[in-house]
Amino acid sequence: MLAGKKIVVVGGSSGIGLATAEIAKRAGADVFIASRNAERLKAAAEKIGATAVATDVTQDDSVAALFRATGPADHVVVTAAQLRTGPFKTVAMEDVRATLEGKFWGAWRVARAAEIRAGGSLTLVSGFLSIRPRPNSAIVGAANGALESLTRGLALELAPVRVNCVSPGIIDTPIRAAMPEAARKEMLAKAAAALPVGRVGLGEDIAQQILAFMTNGFATGSIVYLDGGALVT
Ligand SMILES: NC(=O)c1ccc[n+]([C@@H]2O[C@H](COP(=O)([O-])OP(=O)(O)OC[C@H]3O[C@@H](n4cnc5c(N)ncnc54)[C@H](OP(=O)(O)O)[C@@H]3O)[C@@H](O)[C@H]2O)c1
Repeated sequence: MLAGKKIVVVGGSSGIGLATAEIAKRAGADVFIASRNAERLKAAAEKIGATAVATDVTQDDSVAALFRATGPADHVVVTAAQLRTGPFKTVAMEDVRATLEGKFWGAWRVARAAEIRAGGSLTLVSGFLSIRPRPNSAIVGAANGALESLTRGLALELAPVRVNCVSPGIIDTPIRAAMPEAARKEMLAKAAAALPVGRVGLGEDIAQQILAFMTNGFATGSIVYLDGGALVT
């Protein structure tokens, strides 16, 4: 169902975005991927046969230039985020503002700038912290909750374009690349053991849901929590 469709994945050089771009490409779509680090983006695009457009979602001009380069699209996905958080009372305002600037305002800018064809879709990515808060991450939970509300609002305002959101649980992607390897492995193993499915997620698990949003013409204003059962434990 995606053969010949134009798909733009903002945040497509890594993790969930790269998995989405790769599966969409295999399904016959014409895929554009966008993110900041031009070298990493180019390598990812070459690997999967996509077109790379270096973009920073914190900059209005950069997002406008992305959609001038792509032209009208059938499906747009936003996975871009760089999260800077810490204890609520002491985390620097600069860090929490930067988190919102990328994750929330970035999605907002993409939604405003993208020209999506009628019947096409926009998919945003929130995260389990919106409803399962953890210490030291209030700003991430708030950004995720705001994205979920934005999804519902845009599903009305951008119709007939469909707008949906997937909220991942713990997914093993390069988002934790800055963590020491042993601590990262230990954290993921503990998380896996606590889940009914017995494992943490992969980028592909979330990508499959994003593709389902693209191809299911009845899906709009939907938020899918995909977390290996974390919400029922
Ligand atoms: N992995 C998880 O456990 C998990 C759980 C819940 C929610 N999520 C959410 O899922 C989404 C994707 O996460 P992921 O795990 O796939 O992360 P990831 O592997 O770190 O990928 C993030 C992507 O976003 C791009 N990006 C970051 N800031 C950007 C900016 N300002 N402009 C343009 N591109 C930008 C990165 O490339 P550059 O750095 O080169 O720009 C990269 O391509 C995020 O919204 C994340 O919060 C993830």
